[in-house]
Amino acid sequence: MMKRRLTAFLAGLLLGASVGAHAGPAEDRKALNDYYQQRLPQIKPGDYIYGALALNPDAKDQYDSIMIFPPFVNDVDDGRKIWEKPFANGKLFAGCFPGGGKNVAGDYPYFDNAAGRVATFENAINACLKANNEAEFKYGSREMGLLTSYAKSLSDGMKVNVKVEGPGALAAYEKGKQYYYARRGQLNFSCATCHIDYAGAFIRSEQLSPMIGHAAHWPEFRAGTELFTLQTRFRQCNSQVRAVPLEFNSEEYNNLEYFLTYMSNGLPMQTPVFRK
Ligand code: HEC
Repeated sequence: MMKRRLTAFLAGLLLGASVGAHAGPAEDRKALNDYYQQRLPQIKPGDYIYGALALNPDAKDQYDSIMIFPPFVNDVDDGRKIWEKPFANGKLFAGCFPGGGKNVAGDYPYFDNAAGRVATFENAINACLKANNEAEFKYGSREMGLLTSYAKSLSDGMKVNVKVEGPGALAAYEKGKQYYYARRGQLNFSCATCHIDYAGAFIRSEQLSPMIGHAAHWPEFRAGTELFTLQTRFRQCNSQVRAVPLEFNSEEYNNLEYFLTYMSNGLPMQTPVFRK
């Protein structure tokens, strides 16, 4: 099939590109941007952050009106209360981040060379708790989701700015990329099958979004009330192809998040958002 051959070609191109002399993540991102521009020319570059909504003007209008007074404002306010509550030692979450946590979330995930692994924004929250002798939050918990809903909103409008520098970082990026292109589950689909090859096509009632812009707006509230983090979405997309979902904060998911967020570089952050 034409579409399948395209993915194999693109995956080959990307994997091949990464071993070339001047190739790397930047070339991967350009190749994907070029591909989508051809496949989905109706999406303006800045509109990738809207995911599938960018393909459906009516749904986008509805989204715009929901976002004027979103049903999850109280949840975000609960997140603010967690963020602003002083630790037992009197210090605050804000003290753990440059600028009190404003315009920082777009720098995550980054590769922590000392630890030899990817550090997500959630990891930074738990590192802050630990440094202040507080109990860490469970990854994937509502508490962590509410907190990041608020804390990341302090970076609204910041451009995603993930860096892949040095051999450790590059290796983690490559692992995330391999995960993205590897087929799995009873349906034998990769992430790329749906979000690259079939981007714009319908699966039941859902239109498949392109992966550029996928990582710029988490957490989101599905149906306006159900809190979903990016890794909750990974788990759901794994389940959809009847693959076993991985643990929150697993090395695989963190590498995947690193790769995927790099592909949103240059796009403005917005947290949280509504999705149906
Ligand atoms: C069987 C097809 C399929 C596969 C395979 C798949 N997804 Fe999805 N994914 C969907 C559907 C359907 C949605 C909801 C509609 C949309 O936004 O694309 C979705 C949504 C998403 C979203 C949220 C988009 C948004 O703006 O809310 C992300 C992120 C995502 N997928 C990532 C992944 C990753 C990473 C993988 C591989 C682990 C993957 N998907 C595999 C079908 C798939």
